[in-house]
Amino acid sequence: MNEKILNLLRNSNDYVSGEEISHRLGVSRQAFWKHIQDLKGMGYDIVAVPHLGYRLVSLPDRLFSSEIERGLDTKFMGRKIYYFDTASSTNDIAMQLASKGAPEGTIILSESQTKGRGRLNRAWISPKYKGIYLSVILKPDILPKDAPVLTLLAGVSACEALKEVCGVDSLIKWPNDILAQNKKLGGILTELNAETDEIHHIVIGIGLNVNNDKKSLLPSATSLKELGGENVSRLKLLQEFLRRLEENYLVFQKKGGAATIEKWRRLSDTLGRHVRIISHKEHIEGQALDIDTDGGLLVRQGSGIMRKVMTGDVVHCR
Ligand code: BTN
Repeated sequence: MNEKILNLLRNSNDYVSGEEISHRLGVSRQAFWKHIQDLKGMGYDIVAVPHLGYRLVSLPDRLFSSEIERGLDTKFMGRKIYYFDTASSTNDIAMQLASKGAPEGTIILSESQTKGRGRLNRAWISPKYKGIYLSVILKPDILPKDAPVLTLLAGVSACEALKEVCGVDSLIKWPNDILAQNKKLGGILTELNAETDEIHHIVIGIGLNVNNDKKSLLPSATSLKELGGENVSRLKLLQEFLRRLEENYLVFQKKGGAATIEKWRRLSDTLGRHVRIISHKEHIEGQALDIDTDGGLLVRQGSGIMRKVMTGDVVHCR
């Protein structure tokens, strides 16, 4: 009923009388009033003027499923939404839901996370209502060894959405850091449930710093608000990200990873640089030359030997 009342208010540029709404929706005046209180509690700014009625003034800055669904033109990406005000980690919830059979394209969103995780067991600081903390369930018919390309695909989709919605030029530091003005704007954590030759499901977790204030950011990080000086619509950015993700993923499923890799090369901040890669096994230093078809980073060491790196922390030296 809340949704129906909202639709009536949205579709009117003027005040609508409570009597008319109650009549059209077949609810008592008292029930209608309770729904209005409920919507106000959710943050919808609804004004009531005696003899005129009700008017929707503004929407809350929340990523409610009903708001995401409005205007989302994807086929399957984001068609099933789990929304939380607070969650431990959306990736953990996504892994559990996927194991219970949640369909491909299901998304898990939270307004804040108490145990947000990044790569290499780092914490992902997730202040409430400030960022986008999202996990997407995918079930691609590929070998586990090719899964890293999906991290690149998510990174490319994020950069495309940032450009489209905010006009921000962002770049990707291999494999998963979204950078703007040399600072970290977002990151991607891909997790897999797989056997040697079969993927059951993949969870792509993405965190974006959107309206974070400087004091809640690490010195090496930035947010869209910091970059542009004003708040950005998390809703629009999220919808555009889902649209781009689906578009790129459909191409990937049909034709393989070549188009993703090509786009990634153009958005890369790593290729051509002298890099140091630190992994639990070793440190590798050299020039980042290219990206392989499976998403691995090709590095030429000082000795001339070529190495392919699949994991690790990259430091851009120059
Ligand atoms: C990184 O840069 O190391 C990756 C950060 C990924 C953070 C996102 S926020 C949503 C999802 N849930 C998590 O716990 N982590 C990812």
